[in-house]
Amino acid sequence: MDPEQLRTDFSRFMMSYRSGIAQLMTRVRVLEDEFTHINLNNPIEHVTSRLKTPESIMRKAQRIGIPLTLDDVRANVLDIAGVRITCSFISDTYRVADMITGQPDIEVREVEDYIAHPKPNGYKSLHLIVEVPVYMSDRVQQVPIELQIRTIAMDFWASLEHKIYYKFNREVPPELLAELTEAAETAHRLDMKMERLNDEFAKLKAQPGVVDDAPELALPPQLLDALNLRLQS
Ligand code: GTP
Ligand code: MG
Repeated sequence: MDPEQLRTDFSRFMMSYRSGIAQLMTRVRVLEDEFTHINLNNPIEHVTSRLKTPESIMRKAQRIGIPLTLDDVRANVLDIAGVRITCSFISDTYRVADMITGQPDIEVREVEDYIAHPKPNGYKSLHLIVEVPVYMSDRVQQVPIELQIRTIAMDFWASLEHKIYYKFNREVPPELLAELTEAAETAHRLDMKMERLNDEFAKLKAQPGVVDDAPELALPPQLLDALNLRLQS
């Protein structure tokens, strides 16, 4: 194939994943914005994204033994685009997953619930492969994205485990491995406790006479008066 054509095709290929990430990130930001501005508890702590490098895509294609064509890679490597959402509470991870997968033009290809079924090392997270539509000049492309949703505690654990795993070149000494698994259990206990505390807090907040407007979101009294007058007239 003409190398110029190959370069163009590859650029379009990478561009579709970049646009897919932008598309999903916008939807997550809209949710965040909505929750923040109507003074509901925002379930989203932070959001990050990453695009696999061409080298890393090639390595994965070789590892899973597929031909190095754009069509084969597109069909078989489903984590070229990745988005990770961190939440405060376990229940929030499921809520956020439902909000995203409930959007009518988002297609869910895979769901792996490593929160309900942790990996043997203790790794927990919700993993989804979702497809988002990307509107190109002449067509709509469904772009797969690996969406990971986890709590702050799970994220804290996973980032340290990841560093250790690579530090030891994937051969973590057994005692360290055992300690990591124990730390995952500790993180899970913290998650459960925080969830319980938050439920208690929600119950208290619901009692009459408890003001829960965050000061920065409260409307100035003059504005409220003006709005009231406007509504009445
Ligand atoms: P990959 O070939 O790695 O994509 O495996 P897979 O397709 O079976 O995906 P899996 O759902 O197991 O994991 C995908 C991603 O989840 C990884 O790239 C990591 O970001 C994360 N992950 C999975 N397992 C672990 C783990 O044990 N520790 C950490 N820190 N991250 C993990
Ligand atoms: Mg994967």
